[in-house]
Amino acid sequence: MNNEIINKILDLKKDLNALIVAHYYQRDEIVKLADFCGDSLELARVASRAEQDLIVFCGVSFMGQSVKVLSPKKRVIMPRLACCSMARMIDSSYFDISIKKLNSLGIDNIFPMTYINSNADVKAKVGKMGGVVCTSANATKIFDYALSLNKKIFFMPDRCLGVNLANKNNKLSSVLGQSSDSEIIDSDVICYDGFCSVHQLFSVSDIEFYKNKFSDILIVTHPECDPKVVEKSDFVGSTSQIINFISNLPKDAKVAVGTEFNLVNRLTKQDNNKENIFVLSSSKPECPTMNETTLQDLYNVMRAFKDEIPYNEIEEELSTIEYASLALNKMLELSR
Ligand code: 13P
Ligand code: SF4
Repeated sequence: MNNEIINKILDLKKDLNALIVAHYYQRDEIVKLADFCGDSLELARVASRAEQDLIVFCGVSFMGQSVKVLSPKKRVIMPRLACCSMARMIDSSYFDISIKKLNSLGIDNIFPMTYINSNADVKAKVGKMGGVVCTSANATKIFDYALSLNKKIFFMPDRCLGVNLANKNNKLSSVLGQSSDSEIIDSDVICYDGFCSVHQLFSVSDIEFYKNKFSDILIVTHPECDPKVVEKSDFVGSTSQIINFISNLPKDAKVAVGTEFNLVNRLTKQDNNKENIFVLSSSKPECPTMNETTLQDLYNVMRAFKDEIPYNEIEEELSTIEYASLALNKMLELSR
């Protein structure tokens, strides 16, 4: 059955001259079939600069939107319009409410910085205010730039990444909705109160469990993890950076990895032939939205496109593209 559908997808890909891209958290069968698999920065770069005019994006909605914003002439379809739960925690009206709250506290000198895990309307708000986007792969670099502006950084939507960046740079941070007004006024980095439900699963007690079991184990996590977890990690990086870090370790290295299950499972099974890679959690850290996409969905969306009855196509208003592209292009420039 799989072979049959895979062949049909490959035929459609040829007919449509499409590029199929996938995020590392997608199911194995999708990752295997994709022309390119990467982290969110690599996917934005590769898909927006591809020679193909049609991009079939297997991931979550904000990723497909980023390609459309960076390359509006391309057509971008997604087998599933699955929305990252973190991206869903902020929209343009919550952005406005947050800025108003900061203004009411006398904070006007604001530099907005949004994690790429946000929808295009939020990126447009950020771009309109002269702000920038970052991903987990370039967050450190972009944050250095933000600090150099000597403004209050308003970081959204991921409070963990925002606090982790502040801690790394010995800056004071606060979280809107959690911190007191005086803590917000005194902080250098004000974070929106969003989070990733998958990366919240990893805890300090999970780290202690593995450290007690194996004294030489390395703890590798994604920067969306809780700051207490990040503080106790030996390596923190984006999905691609985690893969590279682990592939350069000796075959018998023991590693407990705090990121999405599909990626960790793939690392243990095939890619590196490493025998001692563990999931840093007693529960299965699966991203429900990333896991929605199936081969059947991929086939259906391509078939419908070929039949000129497209669906799940990413479309953005021109004004959204205009301002969101300012913030995304600034990120690409700064992370060259
Ligand atoms: P990366 O940018 O590391 O691929 O992460 C995206 C993401 O959604 C992690 O949860
Ligand atoms: Fe969003 Fe978390 Fe899933 Fe990443 S793992 S796509 S941040 S819900």
